[in-house]
Amino acid sequence: MTSTALKTLLQAMTLEEKAAQLAQIPMSACLGGVSEPTGPMTALNLTPESIALCGSLIADGPLDAPSYAAVVRALTNAHPHHIPPIVMKDVIHGHRTMFPIPLAIGATFDERFASRMARCGAREAAAMGAHVTFSPMVDVVRDPRWGRVMESPGESPTLCAAMGAAMVKGTRNGDPSHPDSLAACIKHYAGYGLSQAGQEYSPIDVSRTELFNTYFPPFEACVKAGADLVMPAFVGVDRVPCVCNGWMLKDILRGRMGFEGVTISDWDDPGQLRNHGVAADLKEAARLCMEGGLDMDMMSFAYLPHLAQLVREGEISEQLIDEACLRVLELKNKLGLFETPVRNDSAAYQQAVLSDPETKKAAFEAAAASCVLLKNENVLPLRPGAKAALVGDHADSRAILGGWTLDADRSSTRTLFESFASDPRITLTTPGDADVILFACGEREQDTGEGQSKTRPQLTGAQMDELSRLSALGKPVVLLLFCGRPLILTKAEPLCSAILNCWFPGSEGADAIRALVMGDQSPSGHLSMTFPRAIGQIPLHHDRLSGARPHLDGENYFNRYIDESSAPLYPFGYGLSYTSFALDSKVVKQTLCAGSPAVIRTQVTNTGSCSGAAVLQVYAHLRKSPLIRPMRQLIAFRRVELAPQETAEIEFELTQEMLMLYDADGCGVAPEGICDLAVGMDADAPFAQHILCIRG
Ligand code: BGC
Repeated sequence: MTSTALKTLLQAMTLEEKAAQLAQIPMSACLGGVSEPTGPMTALNLTPESIALCGSLIADGPLDAPSYAAVVRALTNAHPHHIPPIVMKDVIHGHRTMFPIPLAIGATFDERFASRMARCGAREAAAMGAHVTFSPMVDVVRDPRWGRVMESPGESPTLCAAMGAAMVKGTRNGDPSHPDSLAACIKHYAGYGLSQAGQEYSPIDVSRTELFNTYFPPFEACVKAGADLVMPAFVGVDRVPCVCNGWMLKDILRGRMGFEGVTISDWDDPGQLRNHGVAADLKEAARLCMEGGLDMDMMSFAYLPHLAQLVREGEISEQLIDEACLRVLELKNKLGLFETPVRNDSAAYQQAVLSDPETKKAAFEAAAASCVLLKNENVLPLRPGAKAALVGDHADSRAILGGWTLDADRSSTRTLFESFASDPRITLTTPGDADVILFACGEREQDTGEGQSKTRPQLTGAQMDELSRLSALGKPVVLLLFCGRPLILTKAEPLCSAILNCWFPGSEGADAIRALVMGDQSPSGHLSMTFPRAIGQIPLHHDRLSGARPHLDGENYFNRYIDESSAPLYPFGYGLSYTSFALDSKVVKQTLCAGSPAVIRTQVTNTGSCSGAAVLQVYAHLRKSPLIRPMRQLIAFRRVELAPQETAEIEFELTQEMLMLYDADGCGVAPEGICDLAVGMDADAPFAQHILCIRG
């Protein structure tokens, strides 16, 4: 449809019809076509006719394409202007075929895995009938107590920005109207990862300077990559909930970042303004959100019954409804829904997409690239002919997919036990009889994700007891760790000869872990979040700001704890390999100014005897600036696959933008003076190079 035709359509719509386009209701309410509403909708006296007016459905129904197609067709036919609903869905790390959790995808330090994951998930969900995914989540996360860290690419704004942008591109594949593509909704805008003490849905307290420097950049990168929708976070900024925060949604998102798409609330978020004590009732909530810049209301039923009435009472202008409605119609147009409301109605096609071996291969490769080898005292890889015991909660479990896996095809997920038992190179036996013990344990997958905050992110008492018993047998114990967040491993670590952090690796995870354990390929994941030594160190991240008195060993009145080291157990970016790498970095262009990047060239050689991937990381520290800056921050990275003895030369262009600081008004402070650089394989890499930043 042309933009003129869209505007003509808008003019032909009644106020009620326009307001209803701004409401999202559950798909389950419409099953079997335009049926009797169920659940909370009954209380709102919704009729089949008013359901048909709603702009969007959140997909909570069965998973087959024909059911989706029937609902979408029925609603489109029932709409007075035949406007189809948009079907939205959480496709977070795959749809039916699960990929590793996004925190693990962050650990690949390779945007190609993020993009492929998003592409495969979009394809499977589109084959079912979805149009939009509520993904990627690009909250910068530093607090392992918060269960939702699993949904993010990690603690670094640079990593979140790169991975998020890659996921947006993978989801859309250049054209969201393509039958294989979805539109991407980025979330949760912004600062949700700061929820106080890691407790879900708790308030945040963040300065505008921190927002500009740390929390906005990933969103900005995703907007540039083409994100179609933005979901405000459940939290408030400057004590104004993001869902109705005009500074966040209008001034920054639209004014500064140039976002032109649709803003959609998180689940019942307008309704929660009552809990914040900001709105007395749903009607006031509707007014505040509309005025604040929220286009669509997910599931709070504030907009549907109240918007038109608010206009009639002169409380809000119809112009606001028109603008929001036009954005929703534009999204539908961009998705091609006016021509093709139903993506696919063939169960056979859906099945063909779901059984595509390429998707399984991509999930396997992502899982293998994301596992992080944290310790290895020459135990891994296992030698052929080894007798191994495979024990622990996760040894024979299909629950290795992680949170946000409601639609996962669990039946085709192999357990570790099934995978290892099929490998003729080893014999599975009891711990007493084994040469080596594989202890598969960690978090339960249902204990990660939304609503799963913890005060003790660590192995349970029972798991520690079992580890102690196994370790007392005097045989090497390999901990195969499953987790959706950094765990405190300080007590477990000495009891293990090797630790492979498998995160939650997804549908093909068991085979990928076996491939790593058996040495078919070398582990190459690097930590996307710092692993602290103690809960009391949280939040601990590589890019903390410099303090007044940096730590000096043995000194009293300096940055330190009296009962624990300040250092992490494993730093951000850390990960071992079965091979070794030598790095040689040279600054080949020393000066940096606007439009003229500095250049650092790194030669990386695989000095070992097996293939492996090096994850090069560039950290920067600006010696002087008017604002306090991070002691170091990741500004660039590259994953490089190398055969034994192979050398690659990698050039990093360091731009002014990478080192820019922003003040509380969002004004950029260009870097000036000496900037120290470290190129290495984790955040402990020493500063050994520097460049000169010239202002102007
Ligand atoms: C979550 C969102 C999610 C939405 C829809 C909310 O509770 O915070 O991340 O997209 O539900 O499922």
